[in-house]
Amino acid sequence: MPDTSSIKSRISKNVKSISAYSVPRIECSVKLDGNESPYDLESEEKIILSEWLTELPLNRYPDSEALGVRTSLSRKVDFPVDGILLGNGSDEIIQMVIEVLGGKSGCVLVPSPTFSMYGITSLILGKRIAEVALDKNFDIDVKPTLEMIHSEDPDIVFLATPNNPTGNSFSEEKVLEILDTSKGAVVVDEAYCDFSKKSYIDHIGEHENLLVLRTMSKIGFAGVRLGMLFACPQIVSEVNKARLPYNINSLSQRVMSFALENPGIVDRKIDLILSERERLRTELESIDAIHVYPTDANFFLVRVPDADFLFTELVKNDILVRRFKEKGRLANCLRVTVGTREENDRLTEALVGIFSS
Ligand SMILES: Cc1ncc(COP(=O)(O)O)c(C=O)c1O
Repeated sequence: MPDTSSIKSRISKNVKSISAYSVPRIECSVKLDGNESPYDLESEEKIILSEWLTELPLNRYPDSEALGVRTSLSRKVDFPVDGILLGNGSDEIIQMVIEVLGGKSGCVLVPSPTFSMYGITSLILGKRIAEVALDKNFDIDVKPTLEMIHSEDPDIVFLATPNNPTGNSFSEEKVLEILDTSKGAVVVDEAYCDFSKKSYIDHIGEHENLLVLRTMSKIGFAGVRLGMLFACPQIVSEVNKARLPYNINSLSQRVMSFALENPGIVDRKIDLILSERERLRTELESIDAIHVYPTDANFFLVRVPDADFLFTELVKNDILVRRFKEKGRLANCLRVTVGTREENDRLTEALVGIFSS
C-alpha cells in the first residue's frame, strides 16, 4: 500500500474528529432496523412502473429542476412550486440547508437524542453543535432550549417530529414557541409524518424561518432516494444555490411521478403499517421485560434489561433491529421498525422465547 500520510495530513480537522455514519451489514431475513416500509411494490405495480421507465432516454441528463415532480407535488400538498426543493434523500437537503443557512453564528442546535445526521453533517461543515437534552418524556425541554437559543443564537434548529429514535411527536406549542423565538432557521423534519398525520407545512405562511423536510424513504421508496423541502420561495432559492446540478436522477424522478400519480398504492401500505403498529404495540407491551415508549412513527423505541444480549439473540433468530453505540438516554434501548404481519409475529415469538428461557 502506498504511503498516504501526506494526503492524510491535509484532511480537514472537522472530518478527522468524527466517525462515518455506519450501517452495520448483518444479513437477516427479518429486517427491522432501518425504519423502511416492509412493503415493496406488488409485481403488477412494478410491471406498470417498468413501462414508465422504458420510455426514459437514459443518454440524456435528467430535468435539472425536476419541474414535473415538483409541480405534481405542489398540487398534492397545495404549496407553491417555487417553495419546493428536492434532494437525493432528505440527508442531502440537510447538508444543503447547513451549507447555506449556517453562516452567521456557526451554531446548529439539536435536541438529544435525535437523528444523528444533523450532528455529523454540521461537524463536517465546521459548525458548532449545541445539544439540549429532551425531557423525561422525550419531548422538547423548552426552558433550556430557549435559553440556548438566546445564548448561542443558532443559525439552524433541527426538530424531527416524530423524532428518531424516540418515536414521539413533540408538543406543537413547544415547536411553535421555538419558531417564534429563533432568529435562525427552524427545520421541522417530518420524515415520519405519514404515520403521525401531523404536518407544519401550513405554518410556513406565518413563519418565514420554518423549513419542512419530508422523505419518500419511510413510505416504500427508500431505494429511490428522494427528499423534499418546503419553505418560503425566497429561502428555497438560496438553498437551491448549493444543490448540485441534476441531483435527482431521471429514474428517481419517474418513480416519484409514478408514486404521486398513484396515491392509493402508497396510502394502502401506510394504513397497513398503522394497523400493524397497533398490533405490535399490544404484543410488545404484553412482555414484562420490555418497556415500550409511545410512538407516532413506524417504529418503537424499547428499553430492555440488556440490549446487547437481546440484539445478539435476535440476530441468532434471523431478526435485525437497531442498537445504539451511544449510551446515556439510550442505554439498553433498541429501535424496532414495524414490519409485515409475518415479520412482527416472528419478532414477538422470538422475544417470548428469549425472555422465557
Ligand atoms: C428524522 C429523519 N430525517 C431524515 C432521515 C433521512 O431520510 P432520507 O432517506 O430521505 O435521507 C431519516 C432516516 O432515517 C430520519 O429518521
